[in-house]
Amino acid sequence: MFKQKSENNNSQEIGRNFSKYAHTYDKHAQLQKLMAKKLASFLPKDTPEQILEIGCGTGLFTKYLLAKPVKKIFINDISPEMITCLSLKISLPPYSQIIHGNAELLKFQKVDMIAANAVFQWFKNPRIVLGRLNSYIKANGSLIFSTFGPSTLSELRKIAPLESPVLLISKSEWCKWIEEAGFTVHLSAKESHKTFFPNTLSLLKSLQQIGAAPTQMTSPKILRQLIKDYDDICLTQQGVHANWELLYFSAINKQ
Ligand SMILES: C[S@@+](CC[C@H](N)C(=O)[O-])C[C@H]1O[C@@H](n2cnc3c(N)ncnc32)[C@H](O)[C@@H]1O
Repeated sequence: MFKQKSENNNSQEIGRNFSKYAHTYDKHAQLQKLMAKKLASFLPKDTPEQILEIGCGTGLFTKYLLAKPVKKIFINDISPEMITCLSLKISLPPYSQIIHGNAELLKFQKVDMIAANAVFQWFKNPRIVLGRLNSYIKANGSLIFSTFGPSTLSELRKIAPLESPVLLISKSEWCKWIEEAGFTVHLSAKESHKTFFPNTLSLLKSLQQIGAAPTQMTSPKILRQLIKDYDDICLTQQGVHANWELLYFSAINKQ
């Protein structure tokens, strides 16, 4: 969520980080829960028979998919620990199949819908991935996803000399890429959200507990300065605030 790290955008490292904090994810992922609820309203009226969920995590969005009368559901994540947490929490039906691995590289069988909640910001090449995902969706099938936009944690990214592999793309750019990949954008939405934390350190810790902290934390001296600078900008009577830009898309395969 911080400064874009162009080199060493290591997907294995991302998977390892999510695995490390999988057990604390649900407690801190309040925003992802909200996103899952809103993304569920983007589900097509006629439930697709075969669904692939990318980056299922601990199942915050999977539960909405499983509430529908689907015939087959593939659930994917790069982090084995996130999948383990999901399996402990949700009793997976016999028509579900777990696919562990990097969705940017995996080959999938064709489905009626691909869904992903709060995942695409972790992709190294989202524009290319959209084209690949299009080839795994049947004609007139759908792609629905949510992600974070460029205003997300803007204050923190402005002042923090930290790096992260997260890519924050604007809604209009996503729409352009979705169309270029062979889809028609059916619905899109942008929401601004503010969250409050008792102090800057608790904000940073919370990011860490959902596996979204910068890949390289900084020295104690720089961290102290960062906390001071962030308090100067974002401290309110309710604690420090953080701004989030939430993006939602639903698209139909044009073929
Ligand atoms: C912010 S979490 C969202 C999890 C879940 N979708 C939710 O709504 O809570 C991002 C998830 O994407 C997974 N992920 C990140 N990059 C991935 C990739 N290249 N392929 C598959 N999963 C990936 C992470 O392991 C993590 O579980």
